[in-house]
Amino acid sequence: MLEELSLLHTTTLQELTHANSLDELETIRVKTLGKKGTLTQILRGLGQMEPTARSVLGTRANLFKEEFAAALGMRTEQLKQTQLAKRLEREWLDISLPGRPRSVGTLHPVTRCQNEIIAIFTAMGFPPASGPEVESDWHNFEALNIPPDHPAREMHDTFYLPPGPDGNKRVLRTHTSPVQIRVMEGQQPPLRAIAPGRVFRCDSDLTHTPMFHQVEGFMVDEGVHFGHLKGLLESFLMHFFARPLPVRFRPSFFPFTEPSAEVDMGCLFCDGQGCRVCKKTGWLEVLGCGLIHPNVLANVGIDRERYSGFAFGMGVERLAMLKYGFGDLRALFENDVRFLARHG
Ligand code: PHE
Repeated sequence: MLEELSLLHTTTLQELTHANSLDELETIRVKTLGKKGTLTQILRGLGQMEPTARSVLGTRANLFKEEFAAALGMRTEQLKQTQLAKRLEREWLDISLPGRPRSVGTLHPVTRCQNEIIAIFTAMGFPPASGPEVESDWHNFEALNIPPDHPAREMHDTFYLPPGPDGNKRVLRTHTSPVQIRVMEGQQPPLRAIAPGRVFRCDSDLTHTPMFHQVEGFMVDEGVHFGHLKGLLESFLMHFFARPLPVRFRPSFFPFTEPSAEVDMGCLFCDGQGCRVCKKTGWLEVLGCGLIHPNVLANVGIDRERYSGFAFGMGVERLAMLKYGFGDLRALFENDVRFLARHG
């Protein structure tokens, strides 16, 4: 019996070391310690043995049982580790690989400039207002002191539209000035507003596109004079271009302002020395402005004796070109993402 046990001891432990899967281990366990297992039977047989022999065999058998349990546990652990290692090898993932970048959109440079202009004027007390792009002839021209046969109409290459349901003549607005009229029609002074928006002119070449953006601004109150306008615009240009700049007001003509002026600022590209961008003049023309013509105030029912006002209008594309320093207007409309990302 002792020999049998010793043989079983050796073979079983060998089998355990050679087993290569958890299933095999389980088979060995059942074969040895299961209900009908070899060791189980030996242990069970102890009862019938005479005491001395039982004590010797019992001690050995129990030692074997403990050894077996320990060896089985160890081998199980080893095989689990190997299995895990294999799985890790199979499911290996290189987390150091750079990810696929997602391209993030940016605001269009025109939108950005428009937002900046709005922010500067809002901070100076001019809230944004808006009006329709399909505009009545009255708002776009007549109320602004441009009667039907006025030569000033030729300054605007107008897109005329069929009359609206009310029979009124309609156009695509050629400037944002009609928004002045709309705001003044609804309220009495004191008034201040800016009006950013799209405008349309039947014109297309290197420096003109049929659609572009303007920001209009105006103020009406008692005692408003040209000095207010001048201070406001100088301050605006300094903020927008983030540097002190020489600014000059050059006499000009608009039917809806009197006096009228074009505003020039010192050329940003040559510091006034004269270059290609400023056509050797040292100055860049940036916007139109003036004191609101008393006829315009009268047209919207504002007392022209008591109140006065100023108005100005600027082209956003032009300001964007100057701010970001590129020369071709069309770049803003071609939507080449490399260009847009650089200036967005
Ligand atoms: N509306 C004018 C234009 O489009 C600009 C302007 C606005 C001039 C307000 C004077 C006052 O050219």
